[in-house]
Amino acid sequence: MLELNHVSYKIDKRTIIDDISLTVNPGEAISVLGPSGSGKSTLFRLMSNLLSPTEGTITLYGHPFEDIDPETLRMEVSFLLQQSDLFGTTIGENLAFPALARQDKFDKSRARKLLKKVGLGHYKLNTLVQHLSGGERQRITIARQLMYIPKVLLLDEATSALDVHNKENIETFIFELVQQGLAVVWITHDDQQSTRHFDKQWRIVDGKLQSEEVLT
Ligand SMILES: Nc1ncnc2c1ncn2[C@@H]1O[C@H](COP(=O)(O)OP(=O)(O)O)[C@@H](O)[C@H]1O
Ligand SMILES: [Mg+2]
Repeated sequence: MLELNHVSYKIDKRTIIDDISLTVNPGEAISVLGPSGSGKSTLFRLMSNLLSPTEGTITLYGHPFEDIDPETLRMEVSFLLQQSDLFGTTIGENLAFPALARQDKFDKSRARKLLKKVGLGHYKLNTLVQHLSGGERQRITIARQLMYIPKVLLLDEATSALDVHNKENIETFIFELVQQGLAVVWITHDDQQSTRHFDKQWRIVDGKLQSEEVLT
């Protein structure tokens, strides 16, 4: 579905991503490992069209990124950053944004359901975001990203700021979506626990795909 063909990213004569070819299939869960500075976040920025490769091509359903309307692409390949990026004043305004961007009606019952899923069911849509903790803001960012289910969800250590309980809840929810066909690519830490639900593991070292392992 999402394919990288010999993708490189060079800046100031430095090679950050070095000739990576990869495929993400529907309903696949892939974990991405690699040392800090190895290029994982840059790879995600390429996969989500925030950066363009300096060599190689990236396609979605066989269409090169350049041929896809950027707004459409952003909805189909969704990138969840490590830090939260809330805006506006209330939780509801944030959760309504994806509908606004699609000129669609805001589904408040889905918004409330998602708030519950991320462990914030005790808040109301008119709760102000400014007093929320970092972890709560991050969970609202996750809920906002899932108001509509993308084809591919890229998670850059998105739950690293959360406590174990919330982290597990959100992981469970995301893997329910994987069962329904969502593809997830998740930058995780190298431990046993984080590999249990995944189908594949990519290891990125010095901007190269050092290994692609099928997990059983
Ligand atoms: N826009 C940029 N300009 C110059 N160097 C960059 C840029 N973006 C990332 N880098 C460098 O690329 C390397 C990979 O960074 P990054 O993708 O953030 O790695 P990771 O997410 O694996 O820690 C780092 O050495 C980083 O400093
Ligand atoms: Mg990173």
